[in-house]
Amino acid sequence: MSKSHSVWVSRPLFPEVLATLAQYVDVSVEPKESKRTPEQLRAKLAHVDGAIVGLGDRIDAGVLAGNRRLRAIANLGVGYNNLDVPALTAAGIVATNTPDVLTQTTADYAWALLLAAARRVCSAERWLRAGRWRGGMRFDDWLGVDVHGKTLGILGMGRIGQAVARRGAGFDMKVIYHNRSRLPDAVERECRAEWVEKSELLKRADHLVLVLPYNAQSHHAIGATELEHMKPTAVLVNIARGGIVDDAALAVALREGRLAAAGLDVFEGEPSVNPALRELDNAVLSPHIASASADTRRAMAQLAADNLLAALGHGPNAGHPPS
Ligand code: DGY
Repeated sequence: MSKSHSVWVSRPLFPEVLATLAQYVDVSVEPKESKRTPEQLRAKLAHVDGAIVGLGDRIDAGVLAGNRRLRAIANLGVGYNNLDVPALTAAGIVATNTPDVLTQTTADYAWALLLAAARRVCSAERWLRAGRWRGGMRFDDWLGVDVHGKTLGILGMGRIGQAVARRGAGFDMKVIYHNRSRLPDAVERECRAEWVEKSELLKRADHLVLVLPYNAQSHHAIGATELEHMKPTAVLVNIARGGIVDDAALAVALREGRLAAAGLDVFEGEPSVNPALRELDNAVLSPHIASASADTRRAMAQLAADNLLAALGHGPNAGHPPS
């Protein structure tokens, strides 16, 4: 039986989540995730009431032009720089994201990248797999930099930044952070974190984790100048958004040994990755997977579906029975 609302899902999702949606609305799901042009997105959204989209789907005024039907967009992610929120608001379209459910998993991954980059885990593994471990290894081969006992810097101290900070205590680290606004004292105490100016953060951090949202103000927040102020023994971790780091400048700093290593989960213009970064052994690179544990991705998908249903007046959060 046809339902009162139709929704479009821009990529395959967990079957149980799609089944929840299908209880309330007609659902069409793309069989695979792919980069769509604005024209393709406009066509997909033209005849639906709601959609679940992801980071690769840029929804802006051009995509929304002429659309009189769309009422809600649920973004699969906490970051929503792919959505032009003023354009959506002007069109009366509700936009939602998936905060909280991914906080801990994403913070875990920041640590995975920090430890892997600092201790050269990936390059050592590549070397071993290539059959190059034949004995006679020098005692001073494969030297990394320590993480424990050092000063951890965090740029951006929202939920994920705070979760990264809390983990610092387990490594006996001093935690310093910079954020536009200082956290309340009680939160600072609980995270054992001290607010500092950005210039001080760059200078003092033994390792720096980026966890800030991407917008016009945070574009290239770490560029050539900022990299010059960092310690040459530092590891830089980016789990936020690609455009926050000037990848070309970072590649130069890594190549010239002005930074020990980097752990990068996000890239400017991803899925393409600056070729200079790919060539560097002291860069650990991953394809935007910080939130990718099975439990968390399922929770994100479920939250996006619940958000969409609620915005359309259905589902558990809206208290309406399936129509
Ligand atoms: C997020 O939730 O913002 C992650 O980066 C996935 O897009």
